[in-house]
Formats: sequence, C-alpha cells, structure tokens
Amino acid sequence: MSVHNMKTIGMYNSGGACEYINQNKIEPETEKWQRLFNYVENQLHNDKSKRVIEFGSGCGQLALMLQSAGYDVIATDVVDTFLDELNRVGINKIKKYNFLSDEYDDTFNFKADLIVSWRNPHLDMDDVKKLFNVAYNGLSDNGLLIINFQNADVHSEAEILPNGTKYNYKILEDKQTKEKRFFAYFSKEDIDNLMKDLFEIVEYHNEGGKEQKNWHVLTLRKTK
Ligand SMILES: C[S@@+](CC[C@H](N)C(=O)[O-])C[C@H]1O[C@@H](n2cnc3c(N)ncnc32)[C@H](O)[C@@H]1O
Repeated sequence: MSVHNMKTIGMYNSGGACEYINQNKIEPETEKWQRLFNYVENQLHNDKSKRVIEFGSGCGQLALMLQSAGYDVIATDVVDTFLDELNRVGINKIKKYNFLSDEYDDTFNFKADLIVSWRNPHLDMDDVKKLFNVAYNGLSDNGLLIINFQNADVHSEAEILPNGTKYNYKILEDKQTKEKRFFAYFSKEDIDNLMKDLFEIVEYHNEGGKEQKNWHVLTLRKTK
C-alpha cells in the first residue's frame, strides 16, 4: 500500500475519523445515500440472495440500508473509530480489513457477489491496481464491483506522482478535518488501463458537482 494511503489512514486514526463521523451527523447526505442505494439495488436486480462486501465503509450508511432491505452485507474498515461507528449504527456483520494489505481469503471464507468501494479517493494508481486485483480474487464468477473515482478532468490544479497519479493533499471545505488527506484523481482512460483484463464495464456515468462530473461511477463485471 502507498505511503499516501497509510498517511491518510493515520490521519483518520488520530482524530480525523471522529471529525468525519461528526460531520456526517450534522449533514447526513440522506438523498445521496438513497440514490446510491437505489443504484446498487438496480445493479443487483433486487436479488436479496446476493452477498455483498463493502470496502472502507466509514460511517456505514450504505451497508445499513442494504442490511435493512434484507441483503447479506459485511461492512469493513481499517480504522477502529469507524468500526465502532459501524457497530453503533447497528450493522450486524463487521470486519476489520485493510483491502490493500490483508489477505482477502484470510478474512472472508466465501466469494462475494458484489464488492462496493465507495468514495475512497485516498489511493494512488498502484493502490487502485491492487484493489482491482483483490476484488477480482474476492468475487464469484460474474461478480460485480461498484466503485467510484474522483475525476481528473475537474482537477487541473493536481500534482503528479512519479507513478503517474494525479493528486493533492487537502482539507475538504465541506468536511473539515485538521490534517490534510491524500486525494487522487483519475481519467476514464486511467481506469480502463488499471482494470484491463480483469473487469468489463456494465454501467458507467459521471456525477457530482455543478456539472455532474466530479466522480466516475462504475459497475464492473469480473471477466473470466
Ligand atoms: C472518505 S471515507 C468514505 C467512507 C464511506 N465509504 C463514505 O462514502 O462515506 C474513506 C474510507 O475508506 C477507509 N479506508 C481507506 N483506506 C483503506 C484501506 N486501505 N483499507 C480499508 N479501508 C480503508 C477509511 O478508513 C474511510 O472509512
């Protein structure tokens, strides 16, 4: 895992997660979560027999909605404060799991029908490559990955790491934390290259921001 992901986890561990959780209580983003839930249900064709694992669940809004609707869902995170929050909000299945450094097969004893990695922009290109490989290994045949990435097209100010990742370290105005976090930005072409030979696109769109293009949102199917 990259030093950038490690630093951001360190920031969440040293108070950032508490701030993130408090901010979500002040501004729960209910409409956004309902939209994501509807999107996920749609991709699953409302099939409640599907087994779902969420990577980096944070405050657990999506996992809770899926659980309440009757899906079998495991929420995961690597930060203890988030894991406590997942427990507090009533999620039944929770695992501490670092998707970049823990072995999937040591943590889960089954292949998932759907893995969700939502709003985790703290990954450089090598981290994303690793995430795609972990998800590929963790999914059943024809399993789906729902994932989003911040769009490089709307971040012309970004700097570039030696491995080609566009990024910056910053504090978000709408989710203020004391320390800066690492944010990476990807073009659609970057994503196509990173997932090559592992996944095919089932659905792709842009959303967020004034022009509805802050994020790339993808549903991907594992290729054989
Ligand atoms: C910006 S938060 C998003 C949380 C939630 N998915 C949401 O949309 O609100 C990013 C989350 O990913 C988690 N995370 C970051 N790197 C991780 C890693 N390598 N393994 C597991 N979780 C990670 C963080 O602890 C945090 O909960």
